[in-house]
Amino acid sequence: MEFKSKIKTIEWIDNYSKMVDQTVVPYEYKFINVTTGDNMFHAIRDMIVRGAPAIGIAGAHGVVLYAQEGRDKFTNIEDFKIWLIDKAEYMKTSRPTAVNLMWACEKQIEIIRDSKSDINGLIEELKQNAIKLENEDIEINKKIGDYGAEVVPKGATILTHCNAGALATVGYGTALGVVRSAYAKDNTIQVFADETRPRQQGARITTFELAMDGIPVTLITDGMCSYFMSKGMIDMVVVGADRIAANGDTANKIGTYTVAIAAKYHNIPFYIAAPLSTIDTSIASGKDIPIEERSHEEVTHINGKRICAEGVKIINPGFDVTPHELIAGIITEKGILKPDYNKSISEAFKG
Ligand code: MRU
Repeated sequence: MEFKSKIKTIEWIDNYSKMVDQTVVPYEYKFINVTTGDNMFHAIRDMIVRGAPAIGIAGAHGVVLYAQEGRDKFTNIEDFKIWLIDKAEYMKTSRPTAVNLMWACEKQIEIIRDSKSDINGLIEELKQNAIKLENEDIEINKKIGDYGAEVVPKGATILTHCNAGALATVGYGTALGVVRSAYAKDNTIQVFADETRPRQQGARITTFELAMDGIPVTLITDGMCSYFMSKGMIDMVVVGADRIAANGDTANKIGTYTVAIAAKYHNIPFYIAAPLSTIDTSIASGKDIPIEERSHEEVTHINGKRICAEGVKIINPGFDVTPHELIAGIITEKGILKPDYNKSISEAFKG
């Protein structure tokens, strides 16, 4: 039985991009229309759209939006292409860690370089490519979900960190795709969701989307995971990824590394669920993954209210890197990759 999720996070409609505004979830579930390339840049940077695969698709949409804006500026296709590639390169810089953004913009750049069409024809090709990437994202997530469901024990409690669900992708989700596929087979499984300070994606978004789909979820704060592991209440951990290096080291939301260490100590399998587009084989190990430093206000304030003394020093890295030796498997659309990751990752790209 296939699990039907109700959520579609981002979608190309005629000549604009429609997306869930994730800054207001769970208080509101509303859509906004993004109609210019610059507005898409800001939507990604300000996390109106977030989650590695979702911002990849947003980037691809952003390139189409810029292309539409360029239609009236140029008559010569070569000048148009140079201008548009520059805009696509700029779009890549809207956030630094999730490689899906660079991957999807690069897919659009390839179309721009290879196209033999005129300006209108090229815009249409870019639009069709964005829609194709969008549809593929859901198909890939379902495959990830189905492979992952095979390693979920009966009646399992699955811990997850941040949000790697339908709202972090076009739909279905990666880590939560595993949950959805497993739940379709066995409705006695449940999820424990870490709150995920500072932006609270676990509390705000993961619990929201699981509740919306009727999947049992318990919210815990970030510091509680070892406690529940020590009580034998967690059977496995599944999280998403923002960038995976060639050796399997994985960048994901800050706090993921702590969960992975706790899981190792308690002998609990810790899995990454991610599409191959999250794997950056140009990076040998996690130490080369760029880590986003985010605004200090995310730490000093909760819901607009200061929670610490004025003048306190703040450091706010958005992501951390879990070393590959803590990872039991990387669940992809090509199956579950196992250590030695250098080998299994390079084979996954060949096959
Ligand atoms: O800063 P965010 O909310 O974009 O971070 C998201 C995460 O870290 C997710 O876990 C990751 O992108 C995987 S999404 C399928």
